[in-house]
Amino acid sequence: MGVMSIGKQAVALSSGICGTPVKQSVVPVATKSGSVSFGVRAAGYDEELVKTAKTIATPGRGILAMDESNATCGLRLASIGLDNTEVNRQAYRQLLCTTPGLGEYISGAILFEETLYQSTSEGKLMVDCLKEQNIVPGIKVDKGLVPLAGSNNESWCQGLDGLASRTAAYYKQGARFDKWRTVISIPNGPSELAVTEAAWGLARYAAISQDNGLVPIVEPEILLDGSHSINRTLEVAEKVWSKVFFFLAENHVLFEGILLKPSMVTPGAECPERATPEQVAEYTLTLLKRSVPPAVPGIMFLSGGQSEVEATLNLNAMNQSPNPWHVSFSYARALQNSVLKTWKGQPENIEAAKKALLVRAKANSLAQLGKYSAEGEAEEAKKGMFVKGYTY
Ligand code: 13P
Repeated sequence: MGVMSIGKQAVALSSGICGTPVKQSVVPVATKSGSVSFGVRAAGYDEELVKTAKTIATPGRGILAMDESNATCGLRLASIGLDNTEVNRQAYRQLLCTTPGLGEYISGAILFEETLYQSTSEGKLMVDCLKEQNIVPGIKVDKGLVPLAGSNNESWCQGLDGLASRTAAYYKQGARFDKWRTVISIPNGPSELAVTEAAWGLARYAAISQDNGLVPIVEPEILLDGSHSINRTLEVAEKVWSKVFFFLAENHVLFEGILLKPSMVTPGAECPERATPEQVAEYTLTLLKRSVPPAVPGIMFLSGGQSEVEATLNLNAMNQSPNPWHVSFSYARALQNSVLKTWKGQPENIEAAKKALLVRAKANSLAQLGKYSAEGEAEEAKKGMFVKGYTY
């Protein structure tokens, strides 16, 4: 790819995979697309990364997170009386990936590794079903949470070992973005150690993903667990995000080629004082404006146990005036709950379940545009889905 220089440019050659020389920029350089990169990093995918991130962050669209690990998918299936078999997971994911019209509202879908390599019962790759609808396939690459030794019962996220070769293989299979979810617990501290570990892990993951052509979704989930106030959530979130961006910069991550997946700033799940969508929007936008450079193309929120309607109302409130970034959704529970409850594992319910998915996707699309009203929403969509100590 062409790289033009801004001012003085120095280029170093080093050995890449199999000894191939890789051009590495060591001073600011601008790519053809106009994005600027700094520092020593392979710039081979820069233009594609920027393009992928912009495609995902298109107006009126967001991400369908359907990347539950097999264990978590098993819990979802159990909630409608189904066994956790590969065939049942395939049937459910097929329902989601083959919903006609989904691409109007959904720009990206995060998959679990099994689904990335899986075909529908008719033998078509799930990845191809998504691409046909202009939905970018993505992949969860973290290996989950384990206890963080030396901390206050906090956790850290595994998965950096072998990540370069895994992301290269996922790119070959059609993935163009990836996701790494680590968590921060407010009631357990959070300790300096846990925040540093979370931020450093996210930054290393982001750099490795970009080197292999995948747009990293950076997700330090600040858990809803606890009885703390919304002010305390804001305080912790600012600390976490400032560290995340410090380490992203230290690792020469191209900000134009990432997406963020933050938690909304809300009171703890057990805090008696609840916040309105307008308050959640005000606090969350304050956090983002203080922490996130406008170079970042998209902020794709997680739903974190909010009800479907609550997550949509909060997103809508954040889009009542223009933002420096595309402010959208990357929901799992808040897009899938009604779908599962409608499907119930019965073939005769598949069409109705697909319609339920479209209803939620369209509602969030409208919220991304700031045009959603909760009028006529089903009671089921208003039920909270918070689970204490939730794992993904
Ligand atoms: P929820 O929207 O259910 O919180 O999912 C978050 C997530 O990380 C899925 O990829």
